[in-house]
Amino acid sequence: MKILPSEITPYTNYLNRRKFIKSSIATSLVLGTSTGLQANHASNQNIYDNQLDENDSLNSFEEITTYNNFYEFGMGKTDPAENSGDFKPKPWSISLEGLINNPQVLDLEKLLQKVTIEDRVYRLRCVEAWSMVIPWQGFPLAEIIKIADPLSSAKFIQFETVFRPEEMPGQKRRSLPWPYVEGLRIDEAMHPLTILSTGLYGHDLLNQSGAPLRLVVPWKYGFKSIKSISSIRFVDKQPDATWPMLAPSEYGFYSNVNNLVDHPRWSQGTERRIGEFKRRKTMMYNGYEEDVSHLYKGMDLKKYY
Ligand code: MTE
Repeated sequence: MKILPSEITPYTNYLNRRKFIKSSIATSLVLGTSTGLQANHASNQNIYDNQLDENDSLNSFEEITTYNNFYEFGMGKTDPAENSGDFKPKPWSISLEGLINNPQVLDLEKLLQKVTIEDRVYRLRCVEAWSMVIPWQGFPLAEIIKIADPLSSAKFIQFETVFRPEEMPGQKRRSLPWPYVEGLRIDEAMHPLTILSTGLYGHDLLNQSGAPLRLVVPWKYGFKSIKSISSIRFVDKQPDATWPMLAPSEYGFYSNVNNLVDHPRWSQGTERRIGEFKRRKTMMYNGYEEDVSHLYKGMDLKKYY
């Protein structure tokens, strides 16, 4: 689908329309650290972009949708926009599986009638040391966890991208083991900052951005944000994730943005915001330290990178 520049809301109008709620995140975090069901209440709280500052201006719709990683459509940054035209994100279903009381196949259209779509402007920091600021629409992943109703033995969640080589030309090649998989610890998944996104800039996600549903975890490197999710599986052990499986010394399961732990081949201390030339200092947990550092208290972050 081609979107004309005139159809894209200019950022200033977009931002003026949005409600900026400087909510106290602390309240949600108290809920977020407790057991599954209580934490779901946190999803009703509005946590927007109080972590952003005046240096964080939004990337343009064009930048966000033409510079992508989505290996199912090729390995180059412009491949996803160029090669994803045949992908069909509608109709869509997501299967909830594993250690849960309510295994089922959810119809996305029906699911979207039940959840509240919120605006969230987040920094995205990629492991390759570039970054963007993106106005997402989505809903807390906790909402789906509530529907699944996990057993107490469920400690992690594994996400899987759809496998459709006829629509995703990159899947005909073995550039990655297909399907793409990712995982989160269940408390990370319940965290109120973790969302499933359905759109950006007020438009449904384009195919290259992970239509119709992709994960966004703003304190982790971008590769955790798995696109075009078709299944969500609750498991008791740390699940496989595509990049750590391929190169465990370079990509860890946690993949929290950490300016102090370098990638073996490059520094993670700085980043280049797409659209800028100067490099910026990377912030611990991508700037979301106050909100998430409690999740990793006592962990050796050099070991659990
Ligand atoms: N999800 C799938 N299914 N396949 C991929 O190749 N790439 C990941 C992640 N999600 C990827 C994926 C990587 S490496 C990054 S950096 C982000 O998507 C990029 O998201 P963006 O293109 O929306 O910026």
